[in-house]
Amino acid sequence: MRHLHPLRDLDETTLRARTSLKWREYPPDVLPLWVAEMDVVPARPVVDALKRAVESGDTGYPHGNGYAEALADFAADRWSWTGLDPQRTAYAADVMTGLSEVLRLVSAPGDPVVVNPPVYPPFFGFTEHADRTIVEAPLGEDGRLDLGALEAAFLTAGASGSPVTYLLCNPHNPTAVAHTMTELTAVAALAATHGVRVVVDEIHGPLVPGDFVPYLSVPGAEDAFAVTSASKSWNLAGLKAAVIIAGERAAGDLERLPEIVSHGPSHLGMIAHTVALREGVAWLDAVQADLAENHALLAELLAAHLPGVRWAQGTATYLAWLDCRDLGLGDDPAAAFLEQGRVAVNSGLPFGTGGAGHVRLNIATSPQILTEAITRMASVTGHPD
Ligand SMILES: Cc1ncc(COP(=O)(O)O)c(C=O)c1O
Repeated sequence: MRHLHPLRDLDETTLRARTSLKWREYPPDVLPLWVAEMDVVPARPVVDALKRAVESGDTGYPHGNGYAEALADFAADRWSWTGLDPQRTAYAADVMTGLSEVLRLVSAPGDPVVVNPPVYPPFFGFTEHADRTIVEAPLGEDGRLDLGALEAAFLTAGASGSPVTYLLCNPHNPTAVAHTMTELTAVAALAATHGVRVVVDEIHGPLVPGDFVPYLSVPGAEDAFAVTSASKSWNLAGLKAAVIIAGERAAGDLERLPEIVSHGPSHLGMIAHTVALREGVAWLDAVQADLAENHALLAELLAAHLPGVRWAQGTATYLAWLDCRDLGLGDDPAAAFLEQGRVAVNSGLPFGTGGAGHVRLNIATSPQILTEAITRMASVTGHPD
């Protein structure tokens, strides 16, 4: 019998004592199911390792390649991917910093970067901050990659003659879709045909139930980069660290990474992430099992209380992308859910094309809080409980 239930352990009173973004941004009568933090206590080995480090004064600068080695072993055990060479990695403060530093390696100011909206909003902001130009290849109505739209975007982006980069999110935030081997092989082939460099965000990878396909494991992806971290799957965003992984033919580019990037991750972050990957696997299994139950609960709750909401049932992350266009709440239903229902979810609008009328709901919470949130959201639509 399963005895670990990370997503069943904490009640609302305990959670409200937290000082991080999720629980502090809104007034105390609002239930927060928005930013990607989980309502869990980290895996016991991680807590113990951090305690040991702090209590013994091991609070200096990070040293060594243990994080990448742990990630390589995890990838081999969990995904049967043995191609992650720790020698072809570097560290960054977090995934978004890592991605923007890789963009700087493979492209120049003004160059086009293709993204798949609706997509994690910082994909726009960080790309624009790096002075690159966004070219959109919207997802299909099913929330999956649209290879025709992708090829059209590669052609548009390449028309100027500038090098094209493709910023891929695997699994995709917000639609919670994990790309298949077939899809990723097709992406690699298209990228090769059009001379496009692929840079992949795989931060949610360890949470994918079943078979996760790391992009760099796909034939033809040798000149790509992936950036990942244990921060999302083990809920360690406050302990900064991320890994940049270069494909076999991208190693030369990685060598040009400025030294300052390695100053980003903290020693405590490196300790926490390394222990998570090595000793937090049973805990991750338990989180996945709790999330599977929450996904099933969400389906029941929507059917019972919000039948007008369409959810494509993407379960590759703990974020659910809800199509609320039939509710009559306009382009920004999150505003109504917040003002009238006292539930904070992410508005779909900042996710770009395809985001209007949608919200993103974070289900990494207890069944009680999830149930209360959907009940409150239903009250906004006037649907009887
Ligand atoms: C797809 C994706 N990338 C990056 C991040 C942010 O990661 P980091 O804090 O490591 O920059 C998130 C956070 O939710 C995310 O969903």
